[in-house]
Amino acid sequence: MKIKGKHYHTIWLKKDDPQTVQVIDQRKIPFQFEVFNLRTVDDTYFAIKEMVVRGAPLIGITAAFGMYLALLNTKQKNLEEHLQKTADYLKSSRPTAVNLAFAIDEMLEFILKEKENPQLIQETLEKVHSFKEKEIHYSEKIGEYGLQIIEEIYAKKQDTVNILTHCNAGWLACIDWGTATAPIYKAHRKGIPVHVWVDETRPRNQGARLTAYELGEEGVQHTVIADNTGGHLMQHGKVDLVLVGSDRTTVTGDVANKIGTYLKALAARDNGIPFYAALPSSTFDWKMENGLAEIPVEERGTEEVAEIEGWTGTKIRRVRLIPENSPVANYGFDVTPARLVTGLITERGVCKANKKSILKLFPEKIQL
Ligand code: MRU
Repeated sequence: MKIKGKHYHTIWLKKDDPQTVQVIDQRKIPFQFEVFNLRTVDDTYFAIKEMVVRGAPLIGITAAFGMYLALLNTKQKNLEEHLQKTADYLKSSRPTAVNLAFAIDEMLEFILKEKENPQLIQETLEKVHSFKEKEIHYSEKIGEYGLQIIEEIYAKKQDTVNILTHCNAGWLACIDWGTATAPIYKAHRKGIPVHVWVDETRPRNQGARLTAYELGEEGVQHTVIADNTGGHLMQHGKVDLVLVGSDRTTVTGDVANKIGTYLKALAARDNGIPFYAALPSSTFDWKMENGLAEIPVEERGTEEVAEIEGWTGTKIRRVRLIPENSPVANYGFDVTPARLVTGLITERGVCKANKKSILKLFPEKIQL
């Protein structure tokens, strides 16, 4: 998608320098546009942990590039041991999004299988690029299938379709298109009038900062709202559809996503509003059955809640929000039980949030 009219992906290999991976520094958006360089595994770990990059599909691809960087910096002698350690280290950067472990395991398996191949480095890089291309394709297909849901609402309503979204499940969270935003971009490009209610998404404000920014760059009508506004809007008929992303969805359809998603699902159910999660197959946890009991929910630093970051007009600044000695808790994600989810939008189509329906779309996962 575009930033100031120029097409970007969120991650790429630096031109003429195959030892450097570049990403958009999402800690600075929308105030500054800066590119952040990854040259080592430590750089990669830092970028994921500190949320230079974030969003489930993007942290998966970043970690895949991280395994490539590990390979560049490893002596053949200790390859297996070193890469196994690197894999564990990168996996520990953020626990909730399953895309991270999925991408790392695939890369590890590939590199170890090909370790005698004289073209190993080149082929590993090609593998990362094919991963990246796959994620773009997944997002685009999600856009096409999700578009049909928006079209159906528009066909009945014959007026602007109001969509509420939480956090940033946009192209900045992926490589291109996004997951929850992909159907919105497709609808907008098709001339269907859409308007997006953008939850600010405290504590890190990914909605207010990132989703609002990318919708603005694409010319999509939107309004930023405080996190607690959604229920009120739903009660007053101002939301036609809730569309969110996911960091991990169990094979039974429980959806982990940014903290606050569950409350939107509850309000949507109470008001008879469809609640869809959009996710690629890389976000399914094929082995997990009980999201509430099993999905690890990240707890982050208390400063994210105790402070807030903004733009002074010349620089990004953080200020304290709460009394000096008040304790703080900072849970990054919550789990919306499958019973509250109207459907899942995937690259293979839309399905119900239950095991039978999910596995009907992905029959090759049955034996897992
Ligand atoms: O903490 P973040 O910003 O990485 O959380 C991101 C989300 O919760 C997104 O909704 C999710 O990763 C889906 S991204 C397509």
